[in-house]
Amino acid sequence: MKKTYNISVIKGDGIGVEIVNEAIKVLEKVGKLYNVEFLFSEFLMGGIAYDKTGDPLPQATIDGVVKSDACLFGAIGGEKWDNLPRDKRPESGLLRFRKELEVFANLRPAVVYDELIDASSLKPQVIKGVDIMVVRELIGGIYFGEPKGKSETKGWNTMVYTKDEITRIAHVAFKLARKRTKKLCSVDKANVLDVSQLWRDTVIDISKEYKDVELTHMYVDNCAMQLVANPRQFDVILTGNIFGDILSDEASMLCGSIGLLPSASTGTNTAIYEPIHGSAPDIAGLSIANPIATIASASMMLRYSLDEPQLASIIDDAIKQTLKDGYRTKDIGAYDAKEVLSTSQMGDKIVSNIK
Ligand code: IPM
Ligand code: MG
Repeated sequence: MKKTYNISVIKGDGIGVEIVNEAIKVLEKVGKLYNVEFLFSEFLMGGIAYDKTGDPLPQATIDGVVKSDACLFGAIGGEKWDNLPRDKRPESGLLRFRKELEVFANLRPAVVYDELIDASSLKPQVIKGVDIMVVRELIGGIYFGEPKGKSETKGWNTMVYTKDEITRIAHVAFKLARKRTKKLCSVDKANVLDVSQLWRDTVIDISKEYKDVELTHMYVDNCAMQLVANPRQFDVILTGNIFGDILSDEASMLCGSIGLLPSASTGTNTAIYEPIHGSAPDIAGLSIANPIATIASASMMLRYSLDEPQLASIIDDAIKQTLKDGYRTKDIGAYDAKEVLSTSQMGDKIVSNIK
């Protein structure tokens, strides 16, 4: 019998439309070959949603996504909406979306492909074999803490974490570490911040349930340095919302381009799968965006939400094969490229390697 999955799709703004279209093409090919049906329904979010409805996150979008098996997401935002009141901005829509869906655990893998070892600005001997999983807490911390506000002369935000919030994300990270090399580095700023001290104390408490996992702690400034100095020391990195935002962008450059990094945002409700990069308005419509981060996000969706790990591996292998064959998009199109492809040509190549 044919399996059917309902996938909600949010293309969003800028390059979001181009890259999500490629991921859909890939899923359709996998579905056709392996007798799985994906039913895609599209919903509005971000600047385009504001333009059409006056709200960057219409209720219909939340309702539609909640009903779906998983959500495939592109990117939102752009200069056009930068001067709107904060609650109308695309980014606020995204934060509200994550909160409404309670996706507290954001998984951001950073894997260096051998084929792209020269695409990174770092030396090959430093990055070869890097395979890091950043576990970023996504619906707490300074992004959401109260009080927050801005007057003419003062602006303020608050970094807050409760023990419960830290506990649930710590369990996710420890469980992941168990499935990998059993090494977990928790990143905080406990030398300065009380909230980080609670973070560290709580992670130590939880570690008693995972005695087989080797736990270390690192201050975030040191981690930023260690990531470029000796990235292979890391396996799972567990950290809060803003530190994870920053460190995952940094980790992407080990791999060569932010256009390669996928993510999964999971929790108690429907999970969201999105590239870690933004809507890149400067290159929107030029057909040069790299669709690999979004295609790899579709693979994470198969793995984490739909329990189809074999199909996920087929997509991962197709991406690797395409890179091995020498095909690149502009962002990774170093001197060794056989051919620099457009967004849709890259999608087509990956589709042709789905077997
Ligand atoms: C990310 C992005 C978002 C974040 C923005 C667009 C709100 O940078 O997903 O990393 O800061 O979480
Ligand atoms: Mg970010």
